[in-house]
Amino acid sequence: MTESITSPQKDMLAKVSVDSSGSDGSILDCGTVPPGDPCAVVILGATGDLTARKLIPSLFHMYRNDRLPEAFAIIGSGRTQLNDEAFRNKLASDMESAVLVDRSAWTEFSKLIHYQPVGYEDLETFNTLARKLKELDHQHHTSGNRLFYLALPPNLYAPVAQMTGKSGLGIEKANGNGWSRLVVEKPFGRDLDTAIELDRSIHEYFSEHQVFRIDHYLAKETVQNILMFRFANSIFEPVWNRRYVDHVEITAVETLGVEHRAGYYEQSGVLRDMFQNHMMQLLALTAMEPPTAFEDDRVRDERVKVFRALRPFEVDRLQDRLVLGQYDAGTIDGKRVPAYRNEPGVNPQSLTPTFARMKVFIDNWRWQGVPFYLTSGKRLAQKATQISIQFKQVPHSMFRNVIGPNISANHLILGIYPDEKITLTFQTKLPGARVCLRAVTMDFQYYQGNQQPVLDAYEKVLLDCMLGDHMLFWRQDAVEQCWSFLTPILAECEMCGDRDSMLHSYPAGSLGPAELTRLTSGDL
Ligand code: BG6
Repeated sequence: MTESITSPQKDMLAKVSVDSSGSDGSILDCGTVPPGDPCAVVILGATGDLTARKLIPSLFHMYRNDRLPEAFAIIGSGRTQLNDEAFRNKLASDMESAVLVDRSAWTEFSKLIHYQPVGYEDLETFNTLARKLKELDHQHHTSGNRLFYLALPPNLYAPVAQMTGKSGLGIEKANGNGWSRLVVEKPFGRDLDTAIELDRSIHEYFSEHQVFRIDHYLAKETVQNILMFRFANSIFEPVWNRRYVDHVEITAVETLGVEHRAGYYEQSGVLRDMFQNHMMQLLALTAMEPPTAFEDDRVRDERVKVFRALRPFEVDRLQDRLVLGQYDAGTIDGKRVPAYRNEPGVNPQSLTPTFARMKVFIDNWRWQGVPFYLTSGKRLAQKATQISIQFKQVPHSMFRNVIGPNISANHLILGIYPDEKITLTFQTKLPGARVCLRAVTMDFQYYQGNQQPVLDAYEKVLLDCMLGDHMLFWRQDAVEQCWSFLTPILAECEMCGDRDSMLHSYPAGSLGPAELTRLTSGDL
Protein backbone atom coordinates (compact mmCIF):
# COMPACT_ATOMS: atom_id res chain seq x y z
CA MET A 1 0.00 0.00 0.00
CA THR A 2 1.52 3.33 -0.97
CA GLU A 3 0.35 6.68 0.26
CA SER A 4 1.71 10.13 -0.46
CA ILE A 5 1.56 13.05 1.87
CA THR A 6 2.50 16.61 1.10
CA SER A 7 3.77 18.74 3.92
CA PRO A 8 1.26 21.46 4.81
CA GLN A 9 4.10 24.02 5.05
CA LYS A 10 3.88 25.72 1.68
CA ASP A 11 7.48 26.84 1.63
CA MET A 12 8.78 23.36 2.29
CA LEU A 13 7.50 21.15 -0.45
CA ALA A 14 8.47 17.86 1.08
CA LYS A 15 6.75 14.66 0.11
CA VAL A 16 6.99 11.34 1.86
CA SER A 17 5.71 8.04 0.52
CA VAL A 18 4.95 5.14 2.79
CA ASP A 19 4.93 1.54 1.70
CA SER A 20 3.47 -0.74 4.37
CA SER A 21 3.56 -3.90 2.29
CA GLY A 22 5.95 -6.80 2.57
CA SER A 23 8.41 -7.82 -0.14
CA ASP A 24 5.69 -9.94 -1.79
CA GLY A 25 3.27 -7.00 -1.84
CA SER A 26 1.02 -8.33 0.95
CA ILE A 27 0.01 -6.07 3.82
CA LEU A 28 2.17 -6.85 6.86
CA ASP A 29 0.40 -7.68 10.10
CA CYS A 30 2.48 -6.07 12.83
CA GLY A 31 -0.35 -5.38 15.23
CA THR A 32 -0.67 -8.79 16.81
CA VAL A 33 1.61 -11.14 18.69
CA PRO A 34 0.72 -14.65 19.79
CA PRO A 35 -1.11 -14.49 23.15
CA GLY A 36 1.14 -15.08 26.14
CA ASP A 37 0.81 -17.96 28.58
CA PRO A 38 -2.18 -18.07 30.89
CA CYS A 39 -1.28 -15.98 33.92
CA ALA A 40 -2.31 -13.96 36.94
CA VAL A 41 -1.07 -10.39 37.32
CA VAL A 42 -0.61 -9.58 41.00
CA ILE A 43 -0.45 -5.84 41.60
CA LEU A 44 1.23 -4.99 44.89
CA GLY A 45 0.22 -1.45 45.76
CA ALA A 46 -3.14 -1.91 44.11
CA THR A 47 -4.93 1.01 45.72
CA GLY A 48 -2.26 3.47 44.58
CA ASP A 49 -2.19 5.96 41.80
CA LEU A 50 -0.25 3.90 39.22
CA THR A 51 -2.78 1.08 39.33
CA ALA A 52 -5.77 3.26 38.50
CA ARG A 53 -3.89 5.63 36.17
CA LYS A 54 -1.87 3.19 34.08
CA LEU A 55 -2.02 -0.51 34.94
CA ILE A 56 -5.74 -1.29 35.01
CA PRO A 57 -6.57 1.03 32.05
CA SER A 58 -3.81 -0.69 30.03
CA LEU A 59 -5.00 -4.17 30.96
CA PHE A 60 -8.59 -3.19 30.22
CA HIS A 61 -7.59 -1.82 26.82
CA MET A 62 -5.65 -5.02 26.09
CA TYR A 63 -8.70 -7.04 27.13
CA ARG A 64 -10.92 -5.09 24.74
CA ASN A 65 -8.43 -5.69 21.93
CA ASP A 66 -8.03 -9.42 22.64
CA ARG A 67 -4.41 -9.01 23.68
CA LEU A 68 -4.65 -10.81 27.02
CA PRO A 69 -4.14 -14.54 27.39
CA GLU A 70 -7.36 -16.51 27.28
CA ALA A 71 -6.92 -17.63 30.90
CA PHE A 72 -6.17 -14.52 32.91
CA ALA A 73 -6.78 -12.91 36.29
CA ILE A 74 -5.76 -9.78 38.18
CA ILE A 75 -5.19 -9.80 41.93
CA GLY A 76 -4.83 -6.46 43.62
CA SER A 77 -3.00 -6.41 46.95
CA GLY A 78 -2.40 -3.60 49.35
CA ARG A 79 -2.67 -2.51 52.95
CA THR A 80 -6.25 -1.28 52.62
CA GLN A 81 -8.83 -3.82 53.72
CA LEU A 82 -11.14 -4.37 50.75
CA ASN A 83 -13.03 -7.27 49.25
CA ASP A 84 -13.24 -8.06 45.52
CA GLU A 85 -16.42 -6.06 45.04
CA ALA A 86 -15.16 -2.97 46.84
CA PHE A 87 -11.89 -3.06 44.86
CA ARG A 88 -13.71 -3.34 41.54
CA ASN A 89 -15.96 -0.43 42.50
CA LYS A 90 -12.99 1.66 43.56
CA LEU A 91 -11.25 1.03 40.24
CA ALA A 92 -14.42 1.81 38.29
CA SER A 93 -14.82 5.14 40.03
CA ASP A 94 -11.07 6.02 39.87
CA MET A 95 -10.96 5.45 36.13
CA GLU A 96 -14.48 6.43 35.27
CA SER A 97 -13.87 7.81 31.79
CA ALA A 98 -12.05 4.65 30.66
CA VAL A 99 -14.86 2.48 32.01
CA LEU A 100 -17.53 4.57 30.34
CA VAL A 101 -15.97 3.85 26.94
CA ASP A 102 -17.39 0.35 27.12
CA ARG A 103 -19.39 -0.42 30.24
CA SER A 104 -20.44 -3.91 29.24
CA ALA A 105 -16.81 -4.89 28.52
CA TRP A 106 -15.87 -3.47 31.94
CA THR A 107 -18.53 -5.62 33.61
CA GLU A 108 -17.02 -8.73 32.01
CA PHE A 109 -13.42 -7.65 32.58
CA SER A 110 -14.02 -6.82 36.24
CA LYS A 111 -14.99 -10.44 36.90
CA LEU A 112 -11.29 -11.23 36.40
CA ILE A 113 -10.30 -8.80 39.16
CA HIS A 114 -9.83 -9.87 42.79
CA TYR A 115 -8.37 -8.35 45.92
CA GLN A 116 -6.31 -9.71 48.79
CA PRO A 117 -5.05 -7.40 51.56
CA VAL A 118 -1.42 -7.75 52.66
CA GLY A 119 0.85 -6.07 55.20
CA TYR A 120 4.05 -5.28 53.36
CA GLU A 121 6.25 -6.64 56.10
CA ASP A 122 3.87 -9.30 57.40
CA LEU A 123 4.81 -12.75 56.12
CA GLU A 124 1.58 -14.36 57.31
CA THR A 125 -0.44 -12.12 54.97
CA PHE A 126 1.78 -13.16 52.04
CA ASN A 127 1.22 -16.80 52.94
CA THR A 128 -2.52 -16.04 52.75
CA LEU A 129 -1.95 -14.36 49.38
CA ALA A 130 -0.14 -17.50 48.18
CA ARG A 131 -3.12 -19.65 49.19
CA LYS A 132 -5.55 -17.27 47.50
CA LEU A 133 -3.47 -17.38 44.29
CA LYS A 134 -3.67 -21.17 44.30
CA GLU A 135 -7.48 -21.00 44.52
CA LEU A 136 -7.62 -18.43 41.73
CA ASP A 137 -5.37 -20.61 39.57
CA HIS A 138 -8.12 -23.23 39.69
CA GLN A 139 -10.89 -20.72 39.15
CA HIS A 140 -9.24 -18.95 36.18
CA HIS A 141 -7.01 -21.78 34.85
CA THR A 142 -3.94 -19.58 35.07
CA SER A 143 -1.53 -22.56 35.39
CA GLY A 144 0.45 -21.13 38.30
CA ASN A 145 2.05 -18.40 36.12
CA ARG A 146 2.32 -15.14 38.06
CA LEU A 147 3.51 -11.67 37.37
CA PHE A 148 4.15 -9.65 40.54
CA TYR A 149 4.06 -5.95 39.77
CA LEU A 150 5.58 -3.70 42.45
CA ALA A 151 3.43 -0.59 42.04
CA LEU A 152 4.78 0.72 45.34
CA PRO A 153 6.89 3.52 46.79
CA PRO A 154 10.57 2.65 46.13
CA ASN A 155 11.36 2.04 49.82
CA LEU A 156 8.98 -0.94 49.72
CA TYR A 157 10.52 -2.73 46.71
CA ALA A 158 13.02 -4.72 48.78
CA PRO A 159 10.74 -5.70 51.70
CA VAL A 160 7.89 -6.70 49.40
CA ALA A 161 10.17 -8.70 47.08
CA GLN A 162 11.48 -10.44 50.20
CA MET A 163 8.01 -11.27 51.52
CA THR A 164 6.94 -12.51 48.10
CA GLY A 165 10.01 -14.73 47.98
CA LYS A 166 9.73 -15.97 51.57
CA SER A 167 6.16 -17.09 51.01
CA GLY A 168 7.42 -19.30 48.17
CA LEU A 169 5.88 -17.20 45.43
CA GLY A 170 9.18 -16.76 43.58
CA ILE A 171 9.67 -20.48 43.03
CA GLU A 172 9.20 -21.68 39.45
CA LYS A 173 8.46 -25.17 38.22
CA ALA A 174 11.21 -26.71 36.13
CA ASN A 175 9.24 -27.36 32.95
CA GLY A 176 8.58 -23.72 32.09
CA ASN A 177 5.12 -23.89 33.59
CA GLY A 178 4.35 -22.06 36.77
CA TRP A 179 6.65 -19.14 36.09
CA SER A 180 7.05 -16.27 38.52
CA ARG A 181 8.17 -12.81 37.37
CA LEU A 182 8.82 -9.68 39.34
CA VAL A 183 8.24 -6.28 37.75
CA VAL A 184 10.07 -3.41 39.43
CA GLU A 185 9.17 0.20 38.73
CA LYS A 186 11.76 2.93 38.66
CA PRO A 187 13.73 4.29 40.43
CA PHE A 188 15.88 1.21 40.97
CA GLY A 189 17.80 2.44 44.02
CA ARG A 190 18.67 6.06 44.75
CA ASP A 191 22.41 5.76 44.10
CA LEU A 192 24.97 3.09 43.26
CA ASP A 193 25.11 1.48 46.70
CA THR A 194 21.35 1.30 47.19
CA ALA A 195 20.85 -0.09 43.67
CA ILE A 196 23.36 -2.86 44.38
CA GLU A 197 21.71 -3.59 47.71
CA LEU A 198 18.21 -3.68 46.18
CA ASP A 199 19.43 -6.06 43.53
CA ARG A 200 21.06 -8.31 46.11
CA SER A 201 17.89 -8.40 48.14
CA ILE A 202 15.70 -9.26 45.11
CA HIS A 203 18.13 -11.97 44.00
CA GLU A 204 17.80 -13.79 47.30
CA TYR A 205 14.53 -15.14 45.91
CA PHE A 206 14.40 -14.28 42.22
CA SER A 207 16.89 -15.08 39.44
CA GLU A 208 17.81 -12.45 36.88
CA HIS A 209 15.55 -13.98 34.21
CA GLN A 210 12.59 -13.40 36.57
CA VAL A 211 13.26 -9.68 37.10
CA PHE A 212 11.84 -6.95 34.83
CA ARG A 213 13.10 -3.41 35.59
CA ILE A 214 10.77 -1.04 33.83
CA ASP A 215 11.51 2.04 31.81
CA HIS A 216 8.31 3.01 30.03
CA TYR A 217 10.28 5.22 27.61
CA LEU A 218 11.83 2.14 26.04
CA ALA A 219 8.35 0.84 25.27
CA LYS A 220 7.23 3.93 23.36
CA GLU A 221 6.71 3.16 19.68
CA THR A 222 8.85 6.02 18.46
CA VAL A 223 11.67 5.13 20.86
CA GLN A 224 11.68 1.52 19.66
CA ASN A 225 11.74 2.92 16.14
CA ILE A 226 15.19 4.48 16.73
CA LEU A 227 16.75 1.04 16.28
CA MET A 228 14.83 0.39 13.06
CA PHE A 229 15.67 3.80 11.68
CA ARG A 230 19.37 3.44 12.44
CA PHE A 231 19.94 -0.22 11.67
CA ALA A 232 17.41 -1.14 8.98
CA ASN A 233 18.73 1.58 6.65
CA SER A 234 22.18 1.69 5.19
CA ILE A 235 22.38 5.42 4.51
CA PHE A 236 22.37 6.81 8.06
CA GLU A 237 25.00 4.68 9.81
CA PRO A 238 27.92 5.94 7.70
CA VAL A 239 27.25 9.52 8.82
CA TRP A 240 26.24 8.69 12.39
CA ASN A 241 29.55 9.62 14.00
CA ARG A 242 32.04 12.33 14.95
CA ARG A 243 33.00 13.05 11.34
CA TYR A 244 29.52 14.23 10.39
CA VAL A 245 27.65 14.97 13.62
CA ASP A 246 28.29 18.30 15.29
CA HIS A 247 26.21 17.71 18.40
CA VAL A 248 23.11 15.93 19.64
CA GLU A 249 20.26 17.39 21.70
CA ILE A 250 18.09 14.98 23.69
CA THR A 251 15.13 16.73 25.22
CA ALA A 252 12.25 15.56 27.40
CA VAL A 253 10.49 18.57 28.84
CA GLU A 254 7.01 18.86 30.25
CA THR A 255 4.44 21.39 31.39
CA LEU A 256 3.30 19.30 34.34
CA GLY A 257 4.57 20.18 37.79
CA VAL A 258 5.16 17.81 40.66
CA GLU A 259 1.38 17.16 40.95
CA HIS A 260 0.58 15.08 44.04
CA ARG A 261 3.94 13.26 44.05
CA ALA A 262 5.89 15.58 46.34
CA GLY A 263 6.74 12.75 48.77
CA TYR A 264 8.56 10.88 46.03
CA TYR A 265 9.85 13.82 44.01
CA GLU A 266 11.41 15.66 46.95
CA GLN A 267 13.64 12.61 47.41
CA SER A 268 14.36 12.18 43.70
CA GLY A 269 14.53 15.44 41.83
CA VAL A 270 14.92 15.53 38.10
CA LEU A 271 18.25 13.68 37.98
CA ARG A 272 16.87 10.52 39.56
CA ASP A 273 13.36 10.92 38.12
CA MET A 274 14.30 11.43 34.46
CA PHE A 275 18.06 11.20 33.89
CA GLN A 276 19.03 7.97 35.57
CA ASN A 277 16.47 6.14 33.45
CA HIS A 278 14.65 7.70 30.49
CA MET A 279 17.32 10.19 29.37
CA MET A 280 20.08 7.59 29.66
CA GLN A 281 18.12 5.12 27.54
CA LEU A 282 17.43 7.72 24.85
CA LEU A 283 21.15 8.48 24.86
CA ALA A 284 22.05 4.79 24.59
CA LEU A 285 19.71 4.16 21.66
CA THR A 286 21.07 7.18 19.84
CA ALA A 287 24.73 6.38 20.42
CA MET A 288 25.00 2.58 20.54
CA GLU A 289 26.79 0.38 18.04
CA PRO A 290 24.73 -1.96 15.85
CA PRO A 291 23.89 -5.13 17.80
CA THR A 292 24.68 -8.39 16.00
CA ALA A 293 21.07 -9.58 16.32
CA PHE A 294 17.73 -8.23 17.43
CA GLU A 295 17.83 -10.31 20.61
CA ASP A 296 17.36 -8.97 24.10
CA ASP A 297 20.86 -9.55 25.44
CA ARG A 298 22.60 -8.51 22.21
CA VAL A 299 20.71 -5.21 22.23
CA ARG A 300 21.20 -4.68 25.95
CA ASP A 301 24.94 -5.44 25.62
CA GLU A 302 25.29 -2.53 23.19
CA ARG A 303 23.24 -0.17 25.33
CA VAL A 304 25.41 -0.86 28.36
CA LYS A 305 28.61 -0.23 26.39
CA VAL A 306 27.45 3.36 25.87
CA PHE A 307 27.04 3.80 29.62
CA ARG A 308 30.51 2.35 30.20
CA ALA A 309 31.96 4.93 27.80
CA LEU A 310 30.39 7.98 29.49
CA ARG A 311 33.08 10.49 30.40
CA PRO A 312 32.90 11.09 34.18
CA PHE A 313 32.12 14.60 35.36
CA GLU A 314 34.87 16.54 37.10
CA VAL A 315 32.89 17.14 40.26
CA ASP A 316 34.78 20.28 41.20
CA ARG A 317 33.86 21.75 37.81
CA LEU A 318 30.22 20.69 37.60
CA GLN A 319 29.16 24.11 36.38
CA ASP A 320 30.96 23.48 33.09
CA ARG A 321 28.64 20.67 32.18
CA LEU A 322 25.52 20.96 34.31
CA VAL A 323 22.77 23.52 34.91
CA LEU A 324 20.18 22.78 37.58
CA GLY A 325 16.95 24.67 38.10
CA GLN A 326 13.78 24.77 40.13
CA TYR A 327 10.51 26.25 38.94
CA ASP A 328 9.11 29.39 40.39
CA ALA A 329 5.50 30.59 40.03
CA GLY A 330 4.45 31.37 36.49
CA THR A 331 1.84 30.93 33.80
CA ILE A 332 1.18 27.84 31.72
CA ASP A 333 -1.54 27.73 29.09
CA GLY A 334 -2.90 30.99 30.47
CA LYS A 335 -3.19 29.59 34.02
CA ARG A 336 -1.17 30.78 37.03
CA VAL A 337 0.71 27.93 38.67
CA PRO A 338 2.57 27.97 41.99
CA ALA A 339 6.30 27.73 42.62
CA TYR A 340 7.68 24.25 43.33
CA ARG A 341 8.33 25.29 46.93
CA ASN A 342 4.65 26.15 47.35
CA GLU A 343 3.35 22.87 45.97
CA PRO A 344 1.53 20.68 48.51
CA GLY A 345 3.95 18.48 50.45
CA VAL A 346 7.08 20.30 49.28
CA ASN A 347 9.50 21.75 51.81
CA PRO A 348 9.27 25.58 51.47
CA GLN A 349 13.10 25.69 51.48
CA SER A 350 13.47 22.72 49.15
CA LEU A 351 16.68 22.49 47.10
CA THR A 352 15.34 19.72 44.87
CA PRO A 353 16.04 20.39 41.19
CA THR A 354 13.10 20.21 38.79
CA PHE A 355 15.22 21.04 35.74
CA ALA A 356 18.60 19.90 34.48
CA ARG A 357 20.67 20.36 31.38
CA MET A 358 23.79 18.28 31.08
CA LYS A 359 26.60 18.14 28.53
CA VAL A 360 27.76 14.58 28.12
CA PHE A 361 30.62 13.02 26.17
CA ILE A 362 30.97 9.43 25.09
CA ASP A 363 34.58 8.39 25.07
CA ASN A 364 34.76 5.96 22.21
CA TRP A 365 35.98 5.96 18.63
CA ARG A 366 32.61 6.87 17.11
CA TRP A 367 31.68 9.80 19.36
CA GLN A 368 34.95 11.32 20.58
CA GLY A 369 34.46 15.08 21.01
CA VAL A 370 30.76 15.20 20.07
CA PRO A 371 28.71 16.84 22.82
CA PHE A 372 25.37 15.31 23.74
CA TYR A 373 23.12 17.82 25.49
CA LEU A 374 20.47 16.25 27.72
CA THR A 375 17.66 18.50 28.92
CA SER A 376 14.66 17.67 31.07
CA GLY A 377 12.44 19.65 33.35
CA LYS A 378 9.01 20.22 34.75
CA ARG A 379 6.72 23.24 34.30
CA LEU A 380 8.35 24.36 31.08
CA ALA A 381 6.74 26.10 28.13
CA GLN A 382 5.74 22.88 26.36
CA LYS A 383 5.57 19.12 26.59
CA ALA A 384 8.04 17.74 24.07
CA THR A 385 10.37 14.77 23.75
CA GLN A 386 12.79 14.55 20.87
CA ILE A 387 16.28 13.65 19.74
CA SER A 388 17.87 16.13 17.42
CA ILE A 389 21.00 15.32 15.43
CA GLN A 390 22.76 18.41 14.20
CA PHE A 391 25.14 17.57 11.38
CA LYS A 392 28.27 19.58 10.59
CA GLN A 393 28.31 22.37 8.06
CA VAL A 394 29.68 21.65 4.60
CA PRO A 395 33.49 21.80 4.86
CA HIS A 396 33.75 24.41 2.15
CA SER A 397 30.98 26.48 0.58
CA MET A 398 31.32 26.97 -3.14
CA PHE A 399 28.40 29.44 -2.85
CA ARG A 400 30.26 31.84 -0.54
CA ASN A 401 30.56 34.55 -3.19
CA VAL A 402 26.84 34.58 -3.89
CA ILE A 403 25.19 33.84 -0.57
CA GLY A 404 27.92 34.32 2.03
CA PRO A 405 30.01 31.77 3.90
CA ASN A 406 27.36 30.07 6.04
CA ILE A 407 24.95 27.44 4.88
CA SER A 408 22.80 25.96 7.59
CA ALA A 409 23.75 22.38 8.25
CA ASN A 410 21.58 19.29 7.86
CA HIS A 411 19.41 18.48 10.76
CA LEU A 412 17.58 15.30 11.66
CA ILE A 413 14.89 15.16 14.33
CA LEU A 414 13.48 12.00 15.83
CA GLY A 415 10.27 13.30 17.35
CA ILE A 416 8.88 11.21 20.21
CA TYR A 417 6.17 13.44 21.65
CA PRO A 418 3.84 15.15 20.74
CA ASP A 419 5.15 15.01 17.16
CA GLU A 420 5.78 11.35 16.52
CA LYS A 421 7.78 11.93 13.43
CA ILE A 422 11.14 12.05 11.70
CA THR A 423 12.21 15.18 9.90
CA LEU A 424 15.29 15.78 7.81
CA THR A 425 16.25 19.28 6.79
CA PHE A 426 18.45 19.93 3.79
CA GLN A 427 19.29 22.72 1.36
CA THR A 428 17.82 23.19 -2.11
CA LYS A 429 17.78 25.96 -4.66
CA LEU A 430 14.98 28.44 -4.26
CA PRO A 431 13.31 28.59 -7.69
CA GLY A 432 14.02 31.83 -9.54
CA ALA A 433 16.62 33.62 -11.62
CA ARG A 434 18.95 34.48 -8.72
CA VAL A 435 20.95 31.89 -6.86
CA CYS A 436 19.35 31.49 -3.47
CA LEU A 437 19.23 28.52 -1.13
CA ARG A 438 16.39 27.47 1.08
CA ALA A 439 16.13 24.82 3.77
CA VAL A 440 13.41 22.24 3.15
CA THR A 441 12.23 19.68 5.61
CA MET A 442 11.21 16.17 4.73
CA ASP A 443 8.62 15.21 7.23
CA PHE A 444 7.56 11.64 8.02
CA GLN A 445 4.68 11.25 10.46
CA TYR A 446 5.17 8.00 12.30
CA TYR A 447 1.58 6.82 12.04
CA GLN A 448 1.24 7.84 8.42
CA GLY A 449 -0.18 4.94 6.43
CA ASN A 450 -0.58 2.82 9.56
CA GLN A 451 -3.67 0.69 9.93
CA GLN A 452 -2.47 -1.54 12.73
CA PRO A 453 -3.68 -1.21 16.31
CA VAL A 454 -1.07 0.52 18.45
CA LEU A 455 0.05 -0.35 21.98
CA ASP A 456 0.62 2.38 24.51
CA ALA A 457 3.90 2.18 26.48
CA TYR A 458 2.41 0.48 29.56
CA GLU A 459 0.52 -2.04 27.42
CA LYS A 460 3.76 -2.94 25.67
CA VAL A 461 5.58 -3.27 29.00
CA LEU A 462 2.88 -5.56 30.42
CA LEU A 463 2.71 -7.61 27.25
CA ASP A 464 6.48 -8.15 27.15
CA CYS A 465 6.52 -9.18 30.81
CA MET A 466 3.81 -11.73 30.07
CA LEU A 467 5.83 -12.98 27.11
CA GLY A 468 9.08 -13.00 29.12
CA ASP A 469 10.84 -10.69 26.65
CA HIS A 470 13.55 -8.57 28.37
CA MET A 471 14.59 -6.42 25.39
CA LEU A 472 12.87 -3.24 26.62
CA PHE A 473 13.90 -3.57 30.25
CA TRP A 474 16.98 -2.53 32.23
CA ARG A 475 19.63 -5.07 33.02
CA GLN A 476 21.41 -4.68 36.36
CA ASP A 477 24.83 -3.99 34.82
CA ALA A 478 23.31 -1.02 32.95
CA VAL A 479 21.60 0.24 36.11
CA GLU A 480 24.91 0.14 37.94
CA GLN A 481 26.84 1.82 35.12
CA CYS A 482 24.37 4.71 35.06
CA TRP A 483 24.45 5.09 38.81
CA SER A 484 28.27 5.03 38.70
CA PHE A 485 28.09 7.95 36.31
CA LEU A 486 25.41 9.92 38.19
CA THR A 487 26.16 9.15 41.85
CA PRO A 488 29.24 11.43 42.11
CA ILE A 489 27.25 14.24 40.47
CA LEU A 490 24.33 13.72 42.84
CA ALA A 491 26.62 13.54 45.83
CA GLU A 492 28.31 16.80 44.86
CA CYS A 493 24.97 18.52 44.15
CA GLU A 494 23.37 17.32 47.36
CA MET A 495 26.22 17.52 49.85
CA CYS A 496 28.14 20.60 48.88
CA GLY A 497 28.05 23.73 51.03
CA ASP A 498 26.95 26.03 48.22
CA ARG A 499 24.17 23.75 47.05
CA ASP A 500 21.88 26.75 47.04
CA SER A 501 23.95 28.61 44.49
CA MET A 502 23.88 25.68 42.05
CA LEU A 503 20.10 25.80 41.79
CA HIS A 504 18.74 28.49 39.49
CA SER A 505 15.09 29.37 39.56
CA TYR A 506 13.01 29.74 36.41
CA PRO A 507 9.46 30.93 35.92
CA ALA A 508 6.96 28.17 35.20
CA GLY A 509 6.08 28.32 31.52
CA SER A 510 9.58 29.43 30.45
CA LEU A 511 12.38 27.55 28.66
CA GLY A 512 14.30 27.03 31.90
CA PRO A 513 16.80 29.05 33.94
CA ALA A 514 18.62 31.93 32.25
CA GLU A 515 21.94 30.18 33.11
CA LEU A 516 21.15 27.79 30.27
CA THR A 517 23.01 30.10 27.97
CA ARG A 518 26.33 28.99 29.46
CA LEU A 519 25.64 25.46 28.23
CA THR A 520 24.37 26.10 24.78
CA SER A 521 24.75 24.18 21.58
CA GLY A 522 23.37 27.08 19.61
CA ASP A 523 20.04 25.28 19.15
CA LEU A 524 18.22 26.74 22.14
C1 BG6 B 1 7.96 9.47 34.70
C2 BG6 B 1 8.42 10.51 35.68
O1 BG6 B 1 8.80 8.35 34.73
O2 BG6 B 1 7.96 10.02 33.40
C3 BG6 B 1 7.51 11.71 35.63
O3 BG6 B 1 8.41 9.95 36.99
C4 BG6 B 1 7.40 12.24 34.22
O4 BG6 B 1 7.95 12.73 36.51
C5 BG6 B 1 7.06 11.11 33.26
O5 BG6 B 1 6.38 13.21 34.20
C6 BG6 B 1 7.14 11.57 31.83
O6 BG6 B 1 6.68 10.52 31.02
P1 BG6 B 1 5.99 10.81 29.62
O7 BG6 B 1 5.74 9.45 29.06
O8 BG6 B 1 4.74 11.59 29.91
O9 BG6 B 1 6.97 11.61 28.83
